Amino acid sequence: MFMQNAWYAAAWGSELNDKPLGRRICDRPVVLYRLSDGTPAALEDLCCHRLLPLSHGNIEGDLLVCGYHGLAFDRTGQCVRIPSQTRPGARARVRSYPIVERHRLLWIWIGGPALADPAQVPDLHWNDAPGWAFAGDMLPMACDYRLIIDNLLDLTHETYIHPTSLGHDLIPGTPIETVWDDDSVTVSRWILDHQPAPFWARMIERARGWRGRCDRWQIVKFVPPSNVVLDVGVAEVNSGAREGNRAKGVTGRQLNSLTPATATTCWYFWSLARDFAVEDEELTRELQATVRRIFAEDQLIIEAQQRAMLENPGARMININLDAASIRMRRMIEARGAAARSQAA
Ligand code: FES
Ligand SMILES: [Fe+2]
Repeated sequence: MFMQNAWYAAAWGSELNDKPLGRRICDRPVVLYRLSDGTPAALEDLCCHRLLPLSHGNIEGDLLVCGYHGLAFDRTGQCVRIPSQTRPGARARVRSYPIVERHRLLWIWIGGPALADPAQVPDLHWNDAPGWAFAGDMLPMACDYRLIIDNLLDLTHETYIHPTSLGHDLIPGTPIETVWDDDSVTVSRWILDHQPAPFWARMIERARGWRGRCDRWQIVKFVPPSNVVLDVGVAEVNSGAREGNRAKGVTGRQLNSLTPATATTCWYFWSLARDFAVEDEELTRELQATVRRIFAEDQLIIEAQQRAMLENPGARMININLDAASIRMRRMIEARGAAARSQAA
């Protein structure tokens, strides 16, 4: 059902403390924790004795100890201690998953472990790059993860879902360009010479003191299995932004990783990295709250859409010209899933 041979965001690094964290990923129970030196580890969240989720247990040094009868597991998933017995057998084990910490996120590989190449972890370096400030969070969503990718690939929705922040009357009528290659789909839109939407008007005034007309860009790139990088911003009108000079503008990289939990639920890891007013912590807090509010608006709509889809199976849907990227995205995910299945067969 999901692309297995891929890195998925499992948690923010900051979510792991001294307790194990249970999280369903691609319909598998997973428990995440840190070893004593801070290295992350991921095991099946299901004790091989009587199936208590190991996330109900405790971390003891480098071991994860089940909260029911005390079986202790190492990072490979091997049980190394059964308190009531002298020696655990080799069959006393749970599955372990490759896991990598990068750009503030923990990335898990659900497919064949031999294929897990850390070089393929999606590039979200803006999350912790010098010259960029970070705000971010995780939102559990009751929808198929692809519905959120649809939403991000078509920012026309800003006009209807986010009218008081990002929306603008000019967005729907401004043409988009959709391009793709084997590894990505990119949708671009430039809204030139306009009075910016409230969110961007506030950002460029705060960062650059500019109150006038702007050129705005929305460049949205989908990278399988489920990452969407938004390059968004505004610049003083006719200051050369479209030609590549953003010196008079403000840029946000809105980074999104959607991780399926089940077929109709997912974890929405989002962040907004910005290249302006990077020392301004008050702005960071404000953006954290603003983006949360904006995504709550998306959540309301997308979860209602998901419910309607479940209640009306087989209902007819039409495509419009804006759906090209979404159709391409779905084909890309399906093709990769099919390729992995035929390799495995
Ligand atoms: S269920 Fe885990 S030790 Fe018994
Ligand atoms: Fe939105």
